Amino acid sequence: MKKFIHFSTLALVPIGMMAVSTLSLAQVTTPQPELKTTPTEMVDTLNTVFGPHKERAIHAKGILLEGTFTPAPTAASISMAPHLQKKSVPVIVRFSNFAGVPDIPDNHPLASPRGMAIRFKLPDGSNSDMVVHSFNGFPSANADQFRELLQALAASGPDAAKPTALDNYLGTHPIAKNFLTAAKPAPVSYGSLPYFGVNAFKFTNAAGKVTYGRYRIVPLAPAAYLNDAQTKAAAPAYLGEEITAHVAKQAVKFKLLVQVAAKEDKVDDPSVAWPDSRHTVELGTISIDKVAPDMAAAQKAIVFMPNALPKGIEVEDQMVNFRSNAYAVSFGRRQ
Ligand code: HEM
Repeated sequence: MKKFIHFSTLALVPIGMMAVSTLSLAQVTTPQPELKTTPTEMVDTLNTVFGPHKERAIHAKGILLEGTFTPAPTAASISMAPHLQKKSVPVIVRFSNFAGVPDIPDNHPLASPRGMAIRFKLPDGSNSDMVVHSFNGFPSANADQFRELLQALAASGPDAAKPTALDNYLGTHPIAKNFLTAAKPAPVSYGSLPYFGVNAFKFTNAAGKVTYGRYRIVPLAPAAYLNDAQTKAAAPAYLGEEITAHVAKQAVKFKLLVQVAAKEDKVDDPSVAWPDSRHTVELGTISIDKVAPDMAAAQKAIVFMPNALPKGIEVEDQMVNFRSNAYAVSFGRRQ
């Protein structure tokens, strides 16, 4: 595996119903400063941190699968979006490891959090995408802060004087420190992990009722992790091998939920998790049953856009638009 600037630095860190509230006005938003960072600069910085290559700037290693999404009876109470009504739709799902390192071993600390990207193929021929990860939070409240963290990482290679830029940054940014140091045990399977949408969306149902919420994706199988000895012994591609064998025998299933914001929950700060006690509404079941045909080429050809949304779902947290622009830049560089 290629060495890149911060890898050894970070490796030292143990990274390891229906009663939906109607919040039309008073949702908490923080006045957003004009962003200094552009999506292109962000992808440049990711390429500096992880090294140049022709794959995704982050979440570079993954596997593409196919399946079906079936809406739950409760879904239409949240949104008029076409895939949240009665009919099932086809989905494409990509599971991935965190780092922008195409050959990162699946048992490496920087392979977590894992990613899950879903494309819903809507009846009118358009798509709606969802891009989530296996950590309930994000290191930064906005794109500028995220770039500062990445720049600190890039400046903190093995030869950097102590305290490094990363040491200094984490000393004053406890949320970023928690994201990097929280235990993130390697999963038994990509299908045995809960995933979190982190950014909030605004949902509107056919009656005009508005709900602010964040996605949660919960495996039907109980969440299951490897212990330290199992992690050490795991093969570098064990997750891709596991899910390939798994779907050949039996579909891997998840429940898609929306966690509904209370009035005091911030809808534009993905770095702060909302309390687990918040009400959740079931949107449906994701059932994944095969590896995508011509997998490697299909994976390269697809770009998931978190702001590709049908009527009934809107971006609430502006990070989602920034992300989508950065994903387009990364997509351009990996062709
Ligand atoms: C400012 C914040 C963020 C930036 C700049 C950013 C940047 C990127 C970039 C450049 C890519 C590669 C896209 C491609 O080549 O197709 C990517 C992929 C990804 N990101 Fe983000 N990201 C951000 C926030 C997040 C958040 C909050 C999550 C999780 C909730 C997330 C999860 C993912 C996942 C799962 C992928 C892989 C998508 C796929 O499988 O194609 N990112 N991100």
